[in-house]
Parts: sequence; structure tokens; C-alpha cells
Amino acid sequence: MDIKEYVERVNKAVEYLKNKIPEIPKIAIVLGSGLGGIAEAIEDPMTISYKDIPGFPVSTAPGHKGELVFGKLHDKFVVLMNGRFHYYEGYSMKEVTFPIRIFQLLGVEILIVTNAAGGTNKDFEVGVPMIITDHINLMGDNPLLGPNVDEWGPRFPDMSEAYDKDLIKLAKTVAKELGIKVYEGVYVGLAGPNFETAAEYRMIRKIGGDAVGMSTVPEVIVAKHGGLKVLGFSAITDIGDPDNLKPLTAEEVLENADRAGKAMAKIISEVVRRL
Ligand code: HPA
Repeated sequence: MDIKEYVERVNKAVEYLKNKIPEIPKIAIVLGSGLGGIAEAIEDPMTISYKDIPGFPVSTAPGHKGELVFGKLHDKFVVLMNGRFHYYEGYSMKEVTFPIRIFQLLGVEILIVTNAAGGTNKDFEVGVPMIITDHINLMGDNPLLGPNVDEWGPRFPDMSEAYDKDLIKLAKTVAKELGIKVYEGVYVGLAGPNFETAAEYRMIRKIGGDAVGMSTVPEVIVAKHGGLKVLGFSAITDIGDPDNLKPLTAEEVLENADRAGKAMAKIISEVVRRL
């Protein structure tokens, strides 16, 4: 798609939302597969369907809704993205990250991203959230390819601190105080839609990946390009042990996402309160 057209589409959606919402959220939260629970904690929610926002893509993945939820979480006005766009659905990287540009241009300053991921770290157990300390982009694509929109961010964005160190520290402190077990680690993003082969899990482990999934990386790249601070969580829904690989289904992933998701929701809620 022509970049000028894309910029116009983004601006239109931003105008539409600015006229609808009572306040500008400083925090945006992206809910991953099976992690919609946090939406219930929003007070006085104002729900806007993607299909009603001009130019907005529409989501199709199982376990994903398609709406933005604006409202208060502990007196902080936030926006939740309930249902994200995945590259494997056939969306371009520009579509996948369309909502992140909207958040940036609305004035959001902090992006909290969540996902369901396979654990590749030998010490990981299913059902525990991992705070993302960094990522590796193995998706074979990048949302910033093509002409740079200079008003949105620099041609060569810095990625030395893709995930904000202070936010990681806060999340760790909160988890500890709440008595919730968390891991820390590197998220590897692949295009999907197939789950990984044993050889791929082995490779992910070798290159320093603790968890693997099919999302998040494009959103974080665009958020950093746009100057947002990022905090990320992976719900470890299964373990990819290359030496003892068991068949994996999407149903199993969603079931286990629910468990880690509850812990994650508690942490995120308290992190937001302290921001
Ligand atoms: N790969 C392996 N396991 C997973 C994934 C993935 O992409 N997502 C959730 N569990």
C-alpha cells in the first residue's frame, strides 16, 4: 500500500477516536490469545468495535475479539486492545501495527503487550508469566520497511532498550509483592502459523530465546519507533523441548493461557496503579 494512503487512514482513525473518547489514555494494553480477562477490570468501559473505526483492520483469530476498550483501571484512563492482528492471518506488517500508530498519535506513552508463548528455556514451567526483557525478530519482515514517515519516528530507530528497564523493574517488584512467580526472558517472534519443529525449538534455545510466539515483535518495533515505552509479558502455555517434543494444539495453548493470564492480569493491574 502507498505510504501516503496509510498515513491518511491512520489520521482518519485517530480523528474519529479523538472525537469519541472523553480523555486521552496514557497507557495502552494489548491483550494476547486467551488473555482477555483484564478487560473485565475496566470501570465504565467504552467499547468501540474495530469495524466502526474508519480504516481499522478486522480481527479473525480464535480467542480474540475485535474491539478497543477505553476506561479506568485504578483511576488511570487506559485503552485496551481486545484482539490483535497477526501476521499469519495474512495481514501486512503495516496492518498488524495500525493500532499501535493510532495509540502513538492519540498520545499514548506506555504500551503494555501480552501474548501466549511456548517456553524454550529448560527451566520454564507452563502457566507462569514471563516478563519480556528483549526480543529477536525472526518473522522475516518488518513493519518499518519502505519509506519512513519522519513525523512518526526516525529512519533507523534505536533498539538498545526495546523493553523499558524501569518498567521491567516495577513489574518484578509488583510480582514479588503479590507473591506471583514470574520468569524473565527473551521472546522470539516467528511468522507462524505452524508451531515449531524440534529443530526450530533447538535453534531458538541456542540463539538465546526463552519463549517463542507469533506476535508482539512488530507492535514493539513500531511502538519504539514512535517513542513509546514498552512493557511485555508472555504467558508460557506449553514447553518446546526439542528432545522430547509432544504434539501441540491451539486448544491447549488457549487453556493454559487462561491460567498464566490470571496471574498476568493481577501484575498488570497493580503496575498500572503505580505508574
Ligand atoms: N509456538 C509454540 N508454542 C506456543 C506458541 C508458538 O508460537 N504460541 C503459544 N504457544
